[in-house]
Amino acid sequence: MSQPAKNGAVLKFPEHFLWGTATSTTQIEGHIENEWTDFVARDGRNCRIACDSYHRYAEDIEWMRQIGVNAYRMGIEWSRLQSEPYGPLNEAELARYVNQLDRLNQAGIVPMVVLHHFSNPRWIVSQGAWTNADTIPAFVHFVTKLVAALRGHVRLWNTFNEPDTYACCGYLIGEFPPLKKFRVDSFRTVIKNMAVAHHEVCRMIREAGSAMGTVEVGFSKNWTFFKPHSPNSPWDAAIAAFTHWQVNSFVLECFVGANKKGASTFLGVNYYGRIRFRNLQPLVPTNGYSLEELARLGVECDDMLERYPAGLEAALHELYGYCGLPIYLTEHGSSSSDEAFRERDLKENLAALHRAISGGVDVRGFYYWSLLDNFEWQFGYSKKFGLLDVDFSDARLPRKMKPLAWLYRKVCLENAIGHV
Ligand code: BGC
Repeated sequence: MSQPAKNGAVLKFPEHFLWGTATSTTQIEGHIENEWTDFVARDGRNCRIACDSYHRYAEDIEWMRQIGVNAYRMGIEWSRLQSEPYGPLNEAELARYVNQLDRLNQAGIVPMVVLHHFSNPRWIVSQGAWTNADTIPAFVHFVTKLVAALRGHVRLWNTFNEPDTYACCGYLIGEFPPLKKFRVDSFRTVIKNMAVAHHEVCRMIREAGSAMGTVEVGFSKNWTFFKPHSPNSPWDAAIAAFTHWQVNSFVLECFVGANKKGASTFLGVNYYGRIRFRNLQPLVPTNGYSLEELARLGVECDDMLERYPAGLEAALHELYGYCGLPIYLTEHGSSSSDEAFRERDLKENLAALHRAISGGVDVRGFYYWSLLDNFEWQFGYSKKFGLLDVDFSDARLPRKMKPLAWLYRKVCLENAIGHV
């Protein structure tokens, strides 16, 4: 059992803790045919090659060994495996994923497979994607075939990555395909349909089991705190409360609420920080504020969000109290070219994670977002979340350890953080 933190102490984590890193297909693999293929990001670039991990997964596993992780959360791309409704799975693509999973297992890196991470086959998009309830049986059919093929190689399954982000960016703020805005009804329909699919897939995966050991399945909820910048502003308090209600409470209720117990075996939590509103505007760098302006308002950010390490402890207690399921912290990371900032941020967040574990929250693993600098959706290649630097100006896309990767290596190998 982990010990409570003392200043300057070495904080040990529980035995068998998973120290991982995470990626998704569209962001690193490239060579993909989904609704992101033709999407042009704010930096004018697309995801067609991305980090070319599609061809370099063996090399990327070697990098993971060098970092010292014992877990990897990766995507499997539906559009690559099934080119038509209810069609057979593409054998060659399946064999490539099997090879990747075998290499990971042989390297002592436990794979967690994500079944949906913001992308769909084009034939699903053309029928309205997740606004159409017909997508539910199509997805369940695909996953049933996939699980039958992979149950000998995988025991950790992650059904949906951040359905809240997918539905919010696609239907409320118009930043992800299909670029719709203010469609609250569509947002709620997408969430409800995904939740139904999640429950069916969980049941099926639990029944199928895994030849690798006890099967585990859950979805990943992005947990952002939404708050007013000033507690005296009723409008900012109202928009923060409304956002929290839609993207946190409603989504949790649909996926793991009162009568939904018994589907997931764990809850995945992706935690980055918080968003505070001022004059109804989110105080984040991606909304046009400079880091200096934000700092003057007392808002400390990486290149995307306000950092709030103390909130991680509170979030874990709240979520564990709500659903009582073991938790994997399936994403945490920061994007900045200032490595000293990122190192401090990681240490503070791991200290908060350690406090939560010492306080009784059953957290089983932590996955750093992300292995590689990659295609950060609407922002293209301008956000640097990687443990590894990727030189996108060089066609060979060379990878290189960043200082943060060396720090994380120490954490993984010692199962501890020292001197916080
Ligand atoms: C997503 C990732 C994304 C990361 C950083 C999460 O919302 O799952 O795909 O790159 O946050 O923005």
